[in-house]
Amino acid sequence: MNKIPTNDAEIIQKISELKEEKGALVLAHYYENLDIQHAADFCGDSFELAKRARESRKQIIVFCGVSFMAESAKIMNPEKRVFIPRADAGCQMADMVTPEIVLEMKKQHPNAAVVCYINSSAATKAVSDICVTSSNALKIISTLKEKEIIFVPDKNLGSFAAKHFPDKTFHFMQGWCPVHNDLTGEDLRRAKAEYPNAVVAIHPEAKAKILAECDYIGSTSGILDYCRMSDKNEFIIATERAIVERLSEEMPSKKFHLMSPCLTCPDMKKTTLSDLLYCLENLNNEVFMTPDKICAAKQPLERMLEAAKD
Ligand code: 13P
Ligand code: SF4
Repeated sequence: MNKIPTNDAEIIQKISELKEEKGALVLAHYYENLDIQHAADFCGDSFELAKRARESRKQIIVFCGVSFMAESAKIMNPEKRVFIPRADAGCQMADMVTPEIVLEMKKQHPNAAVVCYINSSAATKAVSDICVTSSNALKIISTLKEKEIIFVPDKNLGSFAAKHFPDKTFHFMQGWCPVHNDLTGEDLRRAKAEYPNAVVAIHPEAKAKILAECDYIGSTSGILDYCRMSDKNEFIIATERAIVERLSEEMPSKKFHLMSPCLTCPDMKKTTLSDLLYCLENLNNEVFMTPDKICAAKQPLERMLEAAKD
């Protein structure tokens, strides 16, 4: 009988054997717990993960992240089998937008292009013109000829993008990320007072008035690269806490401080090593979608990948 792994070292060893045995690619978002990131073949922000999933030659993709990310991997690789170790890991912002909301906004603004943040369901993508991620939103919008933009669901990322396109009119819905939107001016002031020598890096899902007072605004990968390349030694990080943990591990000579304890995404913290092991062993929680649904949601994602090319 196979020995059941009982400690982390044994679980990690078994995960590595199973990846090999099943020919599986394990992807992890940078907000996942560090042990999951270590066990993954590739970590990235949502754009990098979407690209990596599309380029995968492996027949099995196990996606450690939240459900819209695994769904996007399936949409771009319909012939592959995609699994998510925790099917209950969702994104509260993605749940705020529905196809009905988008269709109603389209009715009100018939000449507008619908730009949909990748943090959304396949059904919402299917009624949108093009997807964006936090790392490519500006680039993608710059390729659109329409003068009017419907931006869903994140009002904060949308407002951040809109500032760069004064010649376009933006229409927003009231959607937000509860993790980043909860940051307050008081959080920023307190962190700056406590760490006066630190520079501040923030994700564009935070409110405009906070973004305006920070030194760097970017996606999760953008923030990691900014800190890696900076000649500064101390940083206040205003995105999910796993980024602080990863940076502190990678660069022990620099100091990283989380702007506020509110920066914890409960859904990204759900996946454990045991969940990943179980998923690789049993191939449970497969992402299933009808070919019609895949086809409809694929277009805006493919348009994004095409428009993001240099
Ligand atoms: P990134 O696109 O920066 O990976 O962000 C995804 C996300 O969910 C941020 O909250
Ligand atoms: Fe969704 Fe916010 Fe969590 Fe990102 S941090 S997955 S936007 S709830």
